[in-house]
Amino acid sequence: MVNKKVTVSKLLNLDDKVAIITGGAMGIGLGIAKRLAEAGAHVIIGDLNNEACDQAVSEINKMGLKASSYILDVSNEEQVKSMVEHTKNEYGKIDILVNNAGIYPQIPLANMSFDDFKKVLGVNLNSVFLTIKYTSEIMKTQGGGKIINISSIDALHPSMVGLAHYDASKHGVWGFTKNVALELSKYGITVNAVAPGGINTPGAMSNTPSGISKEQLEDASKAFMARIPMQRFGEPDDIAKVVLFLASDMSSYMTGSQIVVDGGALLN
Ligand SMILES: NC(=O)c1ccc[n+]([C@@H]2O[C@H](COP(=O)([O-])OP(=O)(O)OC[C@H]3O[C@@H](n4cnc5c(N)ncnc54)[C@H](O)[C@@H]3O)[C@@H](O)[C@H]2O)c1
Repeated sequence: MVNKKVTVSKLLNLDDKVAIITGGAMGIGLGIAKRLAEAGAHVIIGDLNNEACDQAVSEINKMGLKASSYILDVSNEEQVKSMVEHTKNEYGKIDILVNNAGIYPQIPLANMSFDDFKKVLGVNLNSVFLTIKYTSEIMKTQGGGKIINISSIDALHPSMVGLAHYDASKHGVWGFTKNVALELSKYGITVNAVAPGGINTPGAMSNTPSGISKEQLEDASKAFMARIPMQRFGEPDDIAKVVLFLASDMSSYMTGSQIVVDGGALLN
């Protein structure tokens, strides 16, 4: 039954909300930052790329919207703690947390060092533990909050050889999402995940394993495209619109869910 008392625009409205988006300086994170800011939120972009952060903040500010940045490495506990404290002190609260920062270097197992493995787990999974651990304490005192983790279709099924560390991290993100959703729901905090398929971002477009020729790369790209029923790569905004849904009152009865946004790729 449609609740006529609350309009769609009100449900999507994020006026006065404070949102942290990790890895928000480019790619999917920047797309998310723009949509949440457009809906009214003040977005804090937490990213390690100083220059890209300045550019992203200025782009959003030029649209007449609220954005600022915090430079950090999301796998570093002290830096995550400081970002959360800074946000609370500067803006008074944290309503929305989007864990988006991630890396996906392609390295076959035979060439993968323990350091390679730990690095990917650190940035993609440890970071999710750290940000949620510190942010949820603030959200509890506020009576609630919305947490959205950007996982991957690799959280469900491997997409290619060379991503064993990545797939381990993303399966971990999905498992962690479900368990903390269970623990935090009584505080009014929802935790959901979005699993993108192939998305056209600076990271994805420059992610080529070493020793591969241009022809091999084109073949791999064509083969990947052939597996997408919707016959196109996704754009950051395809993910951002779903994150806006999860960050808003549109998703009022959802927690512990993962939404796949992949143009149908997992069907193949
Ligand atoms: N692009 C895809 O096809 C795709 C598919 C599935 C899932 N994803 C996931 O989406 C997320 C974003 O991917 P993307 O393609 O937009 O990446 P991207 O490389 O284009 O952008 C990633 C951003 O994260 C930042 N970042 C990286 N390491 C960081 C760290 N340690 N601390 C703080 N910031 C850091 C980078 O500076 C950059 O701004 C990742 O979690 C990725 O696993 C992407």
